[in-house]
Amino acid sequence: MSDKLKVGILGATGMVGQRFISLLEEHPWFEVVTVAASARSAGKTYEEAVGGRWKMDTPMPEAVKKLVVMNVNEVEEVAASVDFVFSAVDMSKDEIKAIEEAYAKTETPVVSNNSAHRWTPDVPMVVPEINPEHFEVIEFQKKRLGTKRGFVAVKPNCSIQSYAPVLTAWKEFEPVEVVATTYQAISGAGKTFKDWPEMVENIIPYIGGEEEKSEQEPLRLWGKVEDGVIKKASLPVITCQCIRVPVLNGHTAAAFVKFNKKPTREELIDRLVNFKGVPQELDLPSAPKQFIQYLEEDNRPQVKADVDYEKGMGVSVGRLREDTVYDFKFVGLSHNTVRGAAGGAVLCAETLKAKGYITAK
Ligand SMILES: NC(=O)c1ccc[n+]([C@@H]2O[C@H](COP(=O)([O-])OP(=O)(O)OC[C@H]3O[C@@H](n4cnc5c(N)ncnc54)[C@H](OP(=O)(O)O)[C@@H]3O)[C@@H](O)[C@H]2O)c1
Repeated sequence: MSDKLKVGILGATGMVGQRFISLLEEHPWFEVVTVAASARSAGKTYEEAVGGRWKMDTPMPEAVKKLVVMNVNEVEEVAASVDFVFSAVDMSKDEIKAIEEAYAKTETPVVSNNSAHRWTPDVPMVVPEINPEHFEVIEFQKKRLGTKRGFVAVKPNCSIQSYAPVLTAWKEFEPVEVVATTYQAISGAGKTFKDWPEMVENIIPYIGGEEEKSEQEPLRLWGKVEDGVIKKASLPVITCQCIRVPVLNGHTAAAFVKFNKKPTREELIDRLVNFKGVPQELDLPSAPKQFIQYLEEDNRPQVKADVDYEKGMGVSVGRLREDTVYDFKFVGLSHNTVRGAAGGAVLCAETLKAKGYITAK
């Protein structure tokens, strides 16, 4: 009998669900024992339910092929088989909020990839290198839910992962204004070129809801725990444009920054390459050894060359130079379905386990 924690994946048949399955294939702490999706997939084996929709580069792991898919809405049944769940279901925001809390109330922690709970005041939204202390609000959330071990924790949107860690590394220089444009991959919409042929040789200057998330979510990451809730930071002011580009995986951001205390270029690079947090200190299984790499070549970071840096868990930065209007500008790149989605959630779960929030039932 394995002593790994038993994990369920809600929305296991989708793009992010498949990424969870792939990332957890050989995980030293977690074992996928339950997969759940809509009523359309329930009752089929995982292999049958996914059919031709498998979108990962690596083959479907043998261990999940024969698992019978459960219905996400049968909460008690799914919860009974697992220690905690990852959530990647695509439902309405209200439905997601309700179902994630329903799982928490069965004393099953939920680590979610969804946006539904990102602004629930006592739900921590965490990038473990940036704000692991926000997990402290879990105690207050449990009181609200009336649970002993059940809670919901979330990770932020994929779009911010190529510039929010960078700005965090530069916190001592007090960034006050940021202008960012993100160039976002089609997998962020759960798509490949096969199922979104209009994106070949195309650019679409609109991603619903993305600009507000890109401007606001970093402020919540930099917020403080006060009276059992997260109070968001007020600076830096961020303005964003989010553009869909013909790239399969990898969100790039081109950003301009103004500081209160203008640093030198050397200081900025020094802080980037020396930036680390709890995942590196605890040597968590999915932690990138070097979270942020700085690339001096003028033509980097490039999606094809750099998206898989640190197995998709690291951030690549380049083109840092002084600007004529702002103080500095740079380009950042991160993997949207690994660091930006499933991988970010797995790292949150590892941090939660290491800190004793997730245990065997
Ligand atoms: N793709 C990304 O990079 C990314 C990044 C951050 C956040 N997200 C968010 O993550 C979620 C999943 O995204 P995705 O790209 O993986 O979507 P997806 O490929 O469309 O997968 C959706 C999953 O949800 C299940 N589902 C759909 N309707 C359901 C219902 N009514 N009841 C129960 N299960 C239902 C589907 O099951 P069936 O197969 O049975 O239909 C499938 O497992 C979304 O909320 C999305 O906004 C995605």
